[in-house]
Amino acid sequence: MTVHGAAGLLARARDAATRAHAPYSRFRVGAAVLGERGEVITGCNVESASYGLSCCAERTALFSCVDRGVRPVRLAVSCLDAPANAPPTSRTPCGACRQVMLDLMGPAAEVEIDGLGVMTVDELLPHGFVL
Ligand code: THU
Repeated sequence: MTVHGAAGLLARARDAATRAHAPYSRFRVGAAVLGERGEVITGCNVESASYGLSCCAERTALFSCVDRGVRPVRLAVSCLDAPANAPPTSRTPCGACRQVMLDLMGPAAEVEIDGLGVMTVDELLPHGFVL
């Protein structure tokens, strides 16, 4: 991962959040993944009328990487509708997305969280499940 590759990734995540389909929660989230060859793959949350079928922005982006043959090395995420005074836990990835980050990016990969900073996957999901 190059500094050049990481630059602008958060802006791409914020832009992806504007395409969220979130009519039920009204909570738009965007993710941007940097691939090992410098590719950027984005994703947004997509909600279903059958709520449990909804998919988070992070997994939308990471699953798209798999489909495109892109190996993800870094992820940026933005919760566009989190109020400025919201606690940090309103901006961090959910547990399911943390597991998929571990599955596809590994424990040392960096995750840039809008308004919070950069954490590794291992910091987000210590003792994660690996098969
Ligand atoms: N959401 C994400 O897209 N990523 C997360 O890590 C947490 C939650 C979405 C799911 C749902 O569409 C909305 O935010 C409210 O939970």
